[in-house]
Amino acid sequence: MADIVLAMTGASGAVYTVRLLQVLLAARRTVHLTLSPAAAQVLHAELGLNVNLDDFELSQLIPIDETELQDSKLNMMRSQTNASVLSESDAPLGSVEYHHFQDFSAGIASGSFRTAGMVICPCSMGTLGSIANGLSTNLIHRAADVHLKERRKLIVVPRETPLGSIQLENMKRLADAGAVVLPAMPGFYHNPLTIHDLVDFVVGRICDQLGIGVDLFKRWGQD
Ligand SMILES: Cc1cc2nc3c(=O)[nH]c(=O)nc-3n(C[C@H](O)[C@H](O)[C@H](O)COP(=O)(O)O)c2cc1C
Repeated sequence: MADIVLAMTGASGAVYTVRLLQVLLAARRTVHLTLSPAAAQVLHAELGLNVNLDDFELSQLIPIDETELQDSKLNMMRSQTNASVLSESDAPLGSVEYHHFQDFSAGIASGSFRTAGMVICPCSMGTLGSIANGLSTNLIHRAADVHLKERRKLIVVPRETPLGSIQLENMKRLADAGAVVLPAMPGFYHNPLTIHDLVDFVVGRICDQLGIGVDLFKRWGQD
């Protein structure tokens, strides 16, 4: 199974990133992870997580220490997640390779490095605009550019409302270039009861695009 690139940028919705990472690891995938400085700000503002981009450890994003989990918003998430997906019996789990957002020597900056695709979740309007205009000023933009030019799967998960014409045009440019634009826009037809039912709807739709077979939500037409 080829590796997956997961980038988080500074849009609201940090919980989507953490949940997606958990699900990819439970699916035994190798994840190349990179975060922008604004993503670290959002992780702190929304989940109370302190992520050090210069000295990253996975436990900063997915706390494993029970004391860190107490009173954490992630604790709520954990208690509501689908046990079958996160079961400890799923071991051996996948692995994470972290890349600093300024490290242009990372493998994922090159088209010769093989991946199964890239997800930017959530994707800020700033990153969306940079990719739509081919700027490649950080590793996230560059890796996205590479996925487009190599005709590999690029899934962007924008989060903003309302949307202006520049943002809509940038989304169209990316869709025309082959990207999947998958807004963090959960449906309600699966009768969600919790925030995490909504989170899992979006994460499940991302996994569908990656061809990862997990059932995180009740599909339309499913009994
Ligand atoms: C708590 C917080 C929430 C934000 N939410 C959004 C958002 O939902 N969408 C967006 O496009 N930008 C949002 N921003 C602004 C971006 O983080 C900002 O434009 C930044 O330059 C994006 O940089 P990046 O694309 O390199 O991550 C938010 C910023 C903060 C601190």
